Amino acid sequence: MTSSIFPFAFVFAAHPPLAAKPDFKGVPASLERDLCTLVGAQNITHAATAPGGISAAAAFHLAFDNGAALFVKGSHPGDQSHGAANLRGECAAYQSLPLLRDIAPPYVGMVFADNGDDNGWWLGAWQAIKVIAAPPDPAAAFALLDRVQLTDVTADGAVPLATAHPYLAQFFNATYKWQRLADDPKRAEKFAACFADTFTAAAWLRQNLPTLLKLQSRAATQSYRLGLMHGDLRCDNFLYGALGTDAPRWWLIDWANAAEGPLLFDRVMLAASLHAAGALEVRDAARDAQGDHPLADYHCMLASQAGYFADQLYRDVPAAMPALRDLQKAMFWALAALLTEAQITAPLPDFHSI
Ligand SMILES: Nc1ncnc2c1ncn2[C@@H]1O[C@H](COP(=O)(O)OP(=O)(O)OP(=O)(O)O)[C@@H](O)[C@H]1O
Ligand SMILES: [Mg+2]
Repeated sequence: MTSSIFPFAFVFAAHPPLAAKPDFKGVPASLERDLCTLVGAQNITHAATAPGGISAAAAFHLAFDNGAALFVKGSHPGDQSHGAANLRGECAAYQSLPLLRDIAPPYVGMVFADNGDDNGWWLGAWQAIKVIAAPPDPAAAFALLDRVQLTDVTADGAVPLATAHPYLAQFFNATYKWQRLADDPKRAEKFAACFADTFTAAAWLRQNLPTLLKLQSRAATQSYRLGLMHGDLRCDNFLYGALGTDAPRWWLIDWANAAEGPLLFDRVMLAASLHAAGALEVRDAARDAQGDHPLADYHCMLASQAGYFADQLYRDVPAAMPALRDLQKAMFWALAALLTEAQITAPLPDFHSI
């Protein structure tokens, strides 16, 4: 098992339901042949759906007749989530960033069917890690992140700019997030209804919105220190295990959002995720989140990330991603704790237990 932020220590008692993943039987024969070609094998001897994950993306463990073993993931015709574009972005990052050869599982290649239609099958392949169950390890996670943040990404076009990335750009502008809760009383009401004490949650929002809005609008013009971002640095994207007969170690996976942008983005998200998982006390999470960055930058990043999750967690649960809102609640809970630790907001009441 991967290092996981479920079952949300201190937030929820139960593990939310997992997304339904496709069966390998649905994979077109041409892709099976292409995967064999990637590793120089004749046949796939064993195929299993890789359990877990919050999206409906395809994920398989494959064994081949020449002894090769791959982890394969990607998009499929039933996947509605821009999976093909995400996978292409991730494979491009593996091809252009030499660092990933050291800190991520070895990338093997990408295959597709359906004439490259974005709604068809697209699979990326990596050498399989023999995963060993391990609790999140904050020191190991931040040590890997430090290596990412020392990487020189000045090579033109190696990865997109975060400000031009469809998902990441939202964190570096003044719109939506807290602004949406401020502008739309219905949304603010739905947000408050997620908490056991709805009245106190609504009062919390009213009292703290002016400060949070100020920080959010500053986040759009803040001159953050820039570098290589992972862009989705929750602790479930750290994997502990062995490659072949090598000693077990930590790997940093899931590079679909790799970008050039504010280094604080990954620090804050990782620290919040470790706090949500119960692996870091809030005071230690705050220290690691800020690192040696200016306090004003840290406060802007905190407000921006908390605002993103605050404006997501109350929405309907998408059928294909049953755990999404619970994960967003856990991330928001941890970011709100960091806001309180930084003396930006008062403490929040508890969520409804689920
Ligand atoms: N090289 C690998 N070897 C073995 N298992 C792997 C490997 N890469 C990933 N996995 C397993 O697959 C899971 C999902 O991988 P990854 O994080 O790359 O995909 P994802 O896009 O986040 O999927 P989801 O959205 O479903 O979480 C990991 O948590 C891990 O359990
Ligand atoms: Mg992942």
